[in-house]
Amino acid sequence: MAQVGIFGAGWVGLVTGACFAELGHEVVIRDVVPAKIDALKSGAVPFHEADVPELLERNRERLTFTLDVNEIAKCEFLFICVDTPPTHSGDADLSRVWTVIDELPELSGHPIVVMKSTVPVGTGDKVRHGLDVRGLGHVGYASNPEFLAEGNAVRDFMEPDRVVVGAFEEADGAAVAALYAKIDAPIVRADVNSAEMIKLAANAFLMTRISFINEIANVCEATGADVVSVAEGVGLDRRLGPHFLRAGIGYGGSCFPKDSLALKQLASNSGYHFQLLSAVIEVNELQKRRVIGKLQRHLGSLRGKKIALLGLAFKPDTDDMREAPSIVLASRLLAEGAEVRGWDPVADGSVLPRGVEIVDSIEAAVADADAAVIVTEWAQLKTLARPEIRDAMVFPLIVDGRNLLDPDEARANGFAYEGIGRPTVTTDGEPVLAGTR
Ligand SMILES: NC(=O)c1ccc[n+]([C@@H]2O[C@H](COP(=O)([O-])OP(=O)(O)OC[C@H]3O[C@@H](n4cnc5c(N)ncnc54)[C@H](O)[C@@H]3O)[C@@H](O)[C@H]2O)c1
Repeated sequence: MAQVGIFGAGWVGLVTGACFAELGHEVVIRDVVPAKIDALKSGAVPFHEADVPELLERNRERLTFTLDVNEIAKCEFLFICVDTPPTHSGDADLSRVWTVIDELPELSGHPIVVMKSTVPVGTGDKVRHGLDVRGLGHVGYASNPEFLAEGNAVRDFMEPDRVVVGAFEEADGAAVAALYAKIDAPIVRADVNSAEMIKLAANAFLMTRISFINEIANVCEATGADVVSVAEGVGLDRRLGPHFLRAGIGYGGSCFPKDSLALKQLASNSGYHFQLLSAVIEVNELQKRRVIGKLQRHLGSLRGKKIALLGLAFKPDTDDMREAPSIVLASRLLAEGAEVRGWDPVADGSVLPRGVEIVDSIEAAVADADAAVIVTEWAQLKTLARPEIRDAMVFPLIVDGRNLLDPDEARANGFAYEGIGRPTVTTDGEPVLAGTR
């Protein structure tokens, strides 16, 4: 079993550390935020992610949390799991990565720095050079991008579709791959540049599928087709598969928006205009705003209208609010003069723009509301279209931004219902095409 050091106790660092401990490795997790380390030492988890608390508890004796960088000096592997947010230009901000390289203590033997953070292609070359300049030529380097999805992070780590390892030296790649020996998944060995690109390309492809099905949904609305049936029929084609074909109000989160910008910027810095990716990003931005038009079609001007935003996190089963579509929606609604109330079972809605009232139940959010918008498909919302909710609202309109509900059932219960890419009907059941409204 190996000694594994981890920089960063965020989603990726903590899940990686907890899972490596579960696999039997000795793990030291270092962060720079004292409150995070204090919380972890006292057994608390700083964010909402299934299975992480149990994993940390079960592997307590193999896990150390520290602020002191020297405590990782004895580790054979030094995983970098720090955040790499976008800069104003769209490039990835690698300042935290460089801080880690600067802070590395005296290291003896042949430890390996392993990059798990998502970074632009070419970062490994630069870090290799940075290590050499710092007199750490004896330290190895590998790229081992992470593909976990929040909400399923532990399962994704323990049962990945593949593990990608890129290294400059064959032995370093083999040593990193060996850490995953107990995991049953193909190991893709690549050069460092390609490993970095695999992560960016995989994310870009997933985003392309989302924007593609969202555009199909918009055409469905204009022509009377139902995107849910369309996606089912398309997804059963084995050449295409069913994943990421769920139409909605667009992707958000800490990865997709920033990674798409970083890849677009990386291409453009290299002299290539990545047209398809630019369109994918633009479609996503427009998609978030289409809810406003749907509300206006039923309510006219939104000035003074009370709108409930149900689900605020960027996806269910996480409390992550980074780049959540709810933020854009709330801003647009406030700009239209609406009164906005927000509810989420776990996410902290205080990052929404000032003026949004955060309430702690679905019932409180919909009371006297003119419309309820399903922003995040939390399981608690599956029964939203029930009579008590209808009676509590001034106007029983549901805009289902995630196609979570059964339209017929919602309408039968007296709601006006609008999904994404689903036929709209008048109160007497006549179909309405978007172009004719
Ligand atoms: N969140 C995801 O779903 C996900 C999935 C795959 C890949 N990634 C990538 O993994 C990386 C980390 O993402 P995250 O969501 O875990 O970020 P995060 O913001 O949740 O966590 C990053 C942590 O690093 C800490 N940190 C910053 N500087 C440090 C330093 N010098 N030493 C030690 N710790 C330091 C921060 O305090 C923070 O706790 C990013 O590059 C991201 O793109 C994220």
